[in-house]
Amino acid sequence: MISRSVLILKWVFLLITILANGNPPEEPVKCSNNFTNCTITNSYGAFPDRSTCHAAEAAYPSSEEDIVSIVANATREKRKMRVATRYSHSIPKLVCPDGEDGLIISTENLNRIVNIDKEKMLVVVESGVTLMQLIDEAAKSGLALPYTPYWLGLTIGGLLGTGAHGSTLWADGSAIHDHVVQMRIVTPGSQEDGYATVRTLEENGELDGEMMAAKVSLGVLGVISQVTLKLQPMFKRSVTFLTKNDSDLSDQVATFGRQHEFADMIWYPSQKRVVYRIDDRVSSNVSGNGLWDHPGFRATPSLALIALRLTEELQEATGDITGKCIGGKLTTDILINTAYGLSNNGLLFTGYPVIGYQNRLQASGGCLTGLIDAEITACPWDPRVNGLFFHQTTISVALSKAKDFIQDIQKLVSITPQSLCGLDIYNGILMRYVTGSNAYIGEQEDSLDFDITYYRSKDPKTPRLFEDVLEEIEQMAVFKYGGLPHWGKNRNVAFEGAIKK
Ligand SMILES: Cc1cc2nc3c(=O)[nH]c(=O)nc-3n(C[C@H](O)[C@H](O)[C@H](O)COP(=O)(O)OP(=O)(O)OC[C@H]3O[C@@H](n4cnc5c(N)ncnc54)[C@H](O)[C@@H]3O)c2cc1C
Ligand SMILES: *[C@@H]1O[C@H](CO)[C@@H](O)[C@H](O)[C@H]1NC(C)=O
Ligand SMILES: *[C@@H]1O[C@H](CO)[C@@H](O)[C@H](O)[C@H]1NC(C)=O
Ligand SMILES: *[C@@H]1O[C@H](CO)[C@@H](O)[C@H](O)[C@H]1NC(C)=O
Ligand SMILES: *[C@@H]1O[C@H](CO)[C@@H](O)[C@H](O)[C@H]1NC(C)=O
Ligand SMILES: *[C@@H]1O[C@H](CO)[C@@H](O)[C@H](O)[C@H]1NC(C)=O
Repeated sequence: MISRSVLILKWVFLLITILANGNPPEEPVKCSNNFTNCTITNSYGAFPDRSTCHAAEAAYPSSEEDIVSIVANATREKRKMRVATRYSHSIPKLVCPDGEDGLIISTENLNRIVNIDKEKMLVVVESGVTLMQLIDEAAKSGLALPYTPYWLGLTIGGLLGTGAHGSTLWADGSAIHDHVVQMRIVTPGSQEDGYATVRTLEENGELDGEMMAAKVSLGVLGVISQVTLKLQPMFKRSVTFLTKNDSDLSDQVATFGRQHEFADMIWYPSQKRVVYRIDDRVSSNVSGNGLWDHPGFRATPSLALIALRLTEELQEATGDITGKCIGGKLTTDILINTAYGLSNNGLLFTGYPVIGYQNRLQASGGCLTGLIDAEITACPWDPRVNGLFFHQTTISVALSKAKDFIQDIQKLVSITPQSLCGLDIYNGILMRYVTGSNAYIGEQEDSLDFDITYYRSKDPKTPRLFEDVLEEIEQMAVFKYGGLPHWGKNRNVAFEGAIKK
């Protein structure tokens, strides 16, 4: 009965999604009318009230001079500062200042593309610029960022702050911070410096050590004002998603990433299925104008989101794991059959390979744009809707150890076959390649990042179904395999292990 209604819902949901407009996410920082007495949350509404995260004041600089003045005043007054962004996606509470007189500095108005140098293929942006803006503006100049996260709503400052990445083992690697050539950062200073200093850090420059620290800084070193990134001439890609069983997955992971420039894998351990992304550059004279509009990042009817959430809450409350397995399998089938939102021409999927320009295939963010007053749709996780609410365990394991880690997960599935069905409702385990970096808290060596998304109760004390199996996987990743947690995701326990190292 439940599974039948889930089936109908999913189809309704997919059909309406095609027609619906977006409803841009809400402001994460909310203050009384003169920018004082503020609460801050993230895009999921995971720390919703004063008691969980607040600041005495918020500032909205729109230039580097503004930042200097704000940082100097706050330093002189010995106030705690934290940087917030337009959408504030991070799951850990990095953004909350301690104490009662904390100051939030938002990068929302630092949203300009400063310069694009076509000859040198460099772009200079203010730190609050979103990935969407950056990709669009670079494309207008015939340039592209080769490797990026898959979601367009992130800001440059935020994705540098947490070491965000796409997937590749080629060239300079998939982390955005490994494509930075210069950044300007405002740090607290001494009285002689007027309480604030602007530093210009360059890759291989005089302050190279500071660059290695500041590239992935968790926002604790200062406020990044501007970033210069190295781009490439625009190019085309050819993408094919190939579904296989997972019998030889553990052997494939080490080689697959060397074979295809934009390789990644989506693994559904309970279904023993894996979808390989066979994705490479092609000559730009190959025809095709493909687009990737990921269904999970589209404006989705609020009613469908509410219904999905209610279904899952009921399954959790009644221990209906079979219902989850059916729902998970169905979700996967729909995603595979609709090519994960790929289309050959921007509208229809007619078959693989999907060929198109980099800027149209590298990331998506359908729910970011559209009608502001449309309360009927939202990003799937929008807290105003009571839709999806989830946690993410995202840990990268050295490529040399990934084989054993995968086999350990397969062993857990053979002991409790249904235990990981819940992941499939959130599209399984996304596995992406990340290269070693010189950033101090970046990746030490070539690694495979495991991105695991699952149900989260609104009540932090209520355990989820098969919580023990998920925790076992988390602990193996951190302790047995020495993995590095993604700084913008994860439950706090993942960091305890990482910080000890
Ligand atoms: C739908 C979705 C998809 C995602 N996809 C990916 C993905 O494909 N790959 C991936 O790696 N990650 C991904 N993430 C995680 C994401 O990369 C991180 O959560 C990222 O940090 C969020 O960026 P943000 O702009 O929202 O920054 P926030 O979360 O607001 O900030 C992150 C940190 O950076 C600091 N910071 C921000 N701006 C500045 C600045 N100007 N100066 C100094 N410090 C600053 C903040 O203080 C904070 O500590 C995804 C997240 C979501 C919600
Ligand atoms: C605005 O700030 C002033 C002091 O700067 C304060 O007296 C006043 O109460 C504040 N107003 C509100 C609505 O918080
Ligand atoms: C701050 O805002 C909260 C509501 O968010 C309100 O209850 C409280 O009275 C406010 N405090 C001050 C000092 O304005
Ligand atoms: C910083 O303090 C100075 C001196 O008190 C003041 O003139 C200036 O407006 C302050 N700047 C900001 C951004 O608050
Ligand atoms: C998995 O697929 C391979 C072929 O790719 C096949 O040889 C093997 O028997 C399959 N394993 C299972 C368990 O179905
Ligand atoms: C496409 O470009 C390549 C060089 O990049 C060339 O060798 C090839 O002949 C071209 N093909 C067509 C169909 O024009």
